[in-house]
Order: sequence, then structure tokens, then C-alpha cells
Amino acid sequence: MVIDHVGQDPQDEVAARFYRRIDRSRAVQQTDEGLWLVLGHPEAVQLLRDRSVSSMTRTPGSGIWDQVSSRFFMFKDAQQHLRLRRMVSDCFTPARLAELKTVIHRAACDRLDRLGDRAEAGERQADIMAEVAYPVASDAICRLLGVSPAESAFLGRWAVSLSRHTTDEQFNRSAEEILAFFREELSAHRETPRGSGLLPIMAERALALGIDDDELLATCILLVVAGFETSANFFGNMLLSLLWRRERFERLVADETLVAPAIEELLRLHSPAHVVMRRTAGATAVGDTVIPADAQVAVLLGLCNRDPRIFDDPDAYRLDRTSNPHLSFSQGPHYCVGASLARVELEAMLRAVLDRLPLLSLHAEQPLRWSGRFLGRGLDRLEILAS
Ligand code: HEM
Repeated sequence: MVIDHVGQDPQDEVAARFYRRIDRSRAVQQTDEGLWLVLGHPEAVQLLRDRSVSSMTRTPGSGIWDQVSSRFFMFKDAQQHLRLRRMVSDCFTPARLAELKTVIHRAACDRLDRLGDRAEAGERQADIMAEVAYPVASDAICRLLGVSPAESAFLGRWAVSLSRHTTDEQFNRSAEEILAFFREELSAHRETPRGSGLLPIMAERALALGIDDDELLATCILLVVAGFETSANFFGNMLLSLLWRRERFERLVADETLVAPAIEELLRLHSPAHVVMRRTAGATAVGDTVIPADAQVAVLLGLCNRDPRIFDDPDAYRLDRTSNPHLSFSQGPHYCVGASLARVELEAMLRAVLDRLPLLSLHAEQPLRWSGRFLGRGLDRLEILAS
């Protein structure tokens, strides 16, 4: 890797190759393969808010993972979606977020201090994804749900294995293990209520809303798979961009009031979630195009976030934007239920880095490898030099 301080931020080849083929002058278009693409910001907002457009985009299967994920409210519409989402939608209260912020900041500081100690002993190089991003993000999900942080490494491993789907055998084993884990946690909570996490609250609400245990367990798993790797990936994407142009990092070290706008700007430019899928029920007008009934639509959030009609100088990293209506957490009824937690978590992690390792830099001798999945864009490793 050669650090290029003047050109664009580094981009992964999968995304870059895909984007190069797209004619950005047409906000709504169809590919030769028949897939509809929405890449304009106002058009995406219109489609994502349209309640006649479906999120039921999965092909049903019979494996254990198919059964679990068929209960995810992320892939449900209307009342079925609301009924399950209601179990968690108002759980991210300011008090709970403040508590989580303190815990996450402490966990990140502990891990960064260990890197600092190792650097003092002469071992400066470390993979910050493995040492900080993944463990802190999985710890955060454990604290959120109220399961023991001692289990955090297992949860993280299952979530990664489920999102990457390396081999069928490993995939199915992870699905079975994560399901068994939450089943045990739930019965333990029922036998001896403990802790202050979401699991007991969800269990109580499930009872009131007529939600069965299979749906409740699937929702716990959804929170892990939707909330763990996204945050870890974004932490890596964010840090790469800040350290690639070190003056960006130094500006935040000097003035931490810029942390919140920096996170919004980096979410706009380097979100781990580039695309969400939808299916039209009937013919659907989007901008000045009509997408026919029963069409599969990919909403390219990463490109909507660079729509020049909405963002001045859209490819530039700027902290002086008066508004930043990026779509990295989507829009409409499926707007990310964990967005407030993600913001708190990422701010806690970034502040910990700025406080504990203000002299941090990128290790220049490394190939940058993204996970190769368009949906969950993140770095496999990010080698840094601690001081
Ligand atoms: C940087 C971090 C994150 C990003 C970029 C992100 C992005 C997104 C996006 C784009 C969607 C919308 C999907 C759609 O419209 O179909 C979504 C939904 C969702 N996210 Fe996040 N997310 C993040 C963190 C989290 C966290 C921390 C949690 C929970 C702990 C979470 C839980 C969920 C859930 C449950 C949904 C489904 C919402 C629904 O369908 O009603 N996310 N997220």
C-alpha cells in the first residue's frame, strides 16, 4: 500500500468495479440483467418511504438459517413488520444509551491501552480490527442484550460466519449454535431474572404482543447480525479514512467537538451498508420513472449519499456541511432501529482512540483487503502503528 495523500480515499475493488459500470446521470435505471437500480437521493427517499413497496426480498429455503431469518422483521412488511419491531423500537432510551456509551468507551480504552503498552515495549504494529473493532462491537451487543460479555467472542464469531457464509457446514453449525445460545439465555433469564439488558424486556413485551419464542429468538439474532459487523466494519472504514489523510485525524485530536460531524460525514462517504433491496407490488412511480410491478430494486445508498443535487462537492470530506441527510441508515419504516446506538457506540470508540492513541498512524506496508461483500463493506484487517 502506498499512502496517497492527495487522491481519493482508498476504495474496494468490488464496489469500484460495480460503480464504474453505472451511468450516474440516470437516477432510476434498469440493468441488462433486469434489476432496477435507484441511485438518486430524492428518488430513494420516495421509494423507501412508499409503504406499498415490499422488503420481502428473500427466497424461502428449508435450512435452519432460512427458518430463523424468515422471522427477521427486516424482511417483513406492514403489520407483521411493526408487530415484531415494536418489541425493540423504543428500547434505545437516552438513559440506556448513556449507560452503554460509558461501558463501550471503557472497553475501547482498555483495549487501546493494551496496544499502547505493547508499543512502549517495542511492538507497535497491530491489526486494529481484531484487537479493537470486533471485540468492542461484540461486547456492545452483549451489553445491549444483557448477555454475559464473556460470551462476546462466541457471538462475534457466529455473526461473522453467518454473514460471510464460507462453507455450508460452518454456516449451519453457526446458525444452530447461536440459536441454542439464545434459547439457553432466555430460559436462564426466565428462571432467574437478572441484569438490565434488552432480553428480559423483549421477553415481557413478546408476551403482551403475542410473539412466540421462535420469533423472539430470531429477533435477538437479528440484532446481533445487523448490529455487530456493521459497527465493527464502519469503525475500520472510518479510521482508514481519517488516518489516510492524517490531518483529518489530527483535527479531531485538537478539537473533539468535531467528532459528531466527522462521523456523519464518514457515514455518508464510507458506510458499510451500500445497498438495500426492495420488491415492487404494483407499478411504482419513482421520480419521473415508473418501475413495473413485481420488480426487484436495489437502492444504492452509497451513490445516493453522493448525489450532487443534495450534497455540494459530494466526493469531498467536509465538516462544515450545514445538513447531512445521508441515507446510510436507510429511510422510512425500515430505518435502522439501532441508528442511535450505532452513533453512540462509534463516538465512544473514536473518542477512545483520540484520547488514548493520539499519535496513531497507518502501517504503510499492508495490502488493503475488503471483505469482498458488497452488502457488508469492511476491511478484513487494518494494520496500525501505535505510539
Ligand atoms: C454503522 C452502523 C450501522 C449501519 C450503517 C446500519 C445500517 C442499516 C440499514 C441501511 C438498515 C436498513 C435496511 C433496509 O432499509 O432494508 C438497517 C436496519 C436495521 N438495523 Fe442497522 N446499521 C448499523 C448499526 C446497527 C446496530 C448497532 C443495530 C442494533 C443493535 C442495528 C439493527 C438494525 C435492525 C434490527 C434493522 C432492521 C430494521 C427494520 O427492518 O425495521 N443496526 N441498518
